[in-house]
Amino acid sequence: MNDSPIRVLGVSASSRRKATDSAVRYALEYAAEKHGAAVEYFTAHRKTIGFCVHCDACVRKKQGCAFKDDMEELYPKMMWANAWILGTPVYQGQISGQLKAMLDRCRALVASHPQVLRDKVGAGIAVGGDRSGGQEPTLRSIQDFYIINEMLPVGGGAFGANLGAAVWSRDKGAAGVQADEEGLAAIRRVVDMLVRVTGLVAGAGP
Ligand SMILES: Cc1cc2nc3c(=O)[nH]c(=O)nc-3n(C[C@H](O)[C@H](O)[C@H](O)COP(=O)(O)O)c2cc1C
Repeated sequence: MNDSPIRVLGVSASSRRKATDSAVRYALEYAAEKHGAAVEYFTAHRKTIGFCVHCDACVRKKQGCAFKDDMEELYPKMMWANAWILGTPVYQGQISGQLKAMLDRCRALVASHPQVLRDKVGAGIAVGGDRSGGQEPTLRSIQDFYIINEMLPVGGGAFGANLGAAVWSRDKGAAGVQADEEGLAAIRRVVDMLVRVTGLVAGAGP
């Protein structure tokens, strides 16, 4: 682990180690190699992450979520990072259920520390089997989560990665992602923007 002021968490919200895993790990490798960022990874692969059931124990007790499952591994990474990359497969034109469960469970983080996510910078990667399979609404949902939780959403700028990285796997897993040159370029643009804005927020920017 290096001591870079840029600490990036990449999440793959797929239960498989295929397309989304490949896209998120590509983003983290690029962040580390090009920008010297410190990186952490979390995958939903073989993880148990239950739904928020709105028991409100987190709001009453302010000691985190009552459920003890694999979110226990993710929560510290979320708090450590000042830059998040949420990567998800597109399911029915939207984020995966795995990602929705993770995001809903963040209510418990905010319940005990209301500003714990404030000013963290966030970006999204949406990996669809179709070229126009709903990547953009999926990215918007990720951006909405950031806005709601006082984070700073970024895309990758105009001409290639407007709302985030839209990746086309052609349902061919990691090989499909690695063949999607435009998708990979979008990921690099998103990481560049994420690192630049995180540096500004951290006071380490140009
Ligand atoms: C339940 C389900 C719904 C899906 N819905 C869509 C969709 O709406 N649009 C799309 O482009 N691909 C859709 N796909 C295909 C996946 O998004 C695509 O294969 C993706 O690359 C899988 O990522 P993974 O290999 O990381 O699991 C769906 C797949 C599943 C299992």
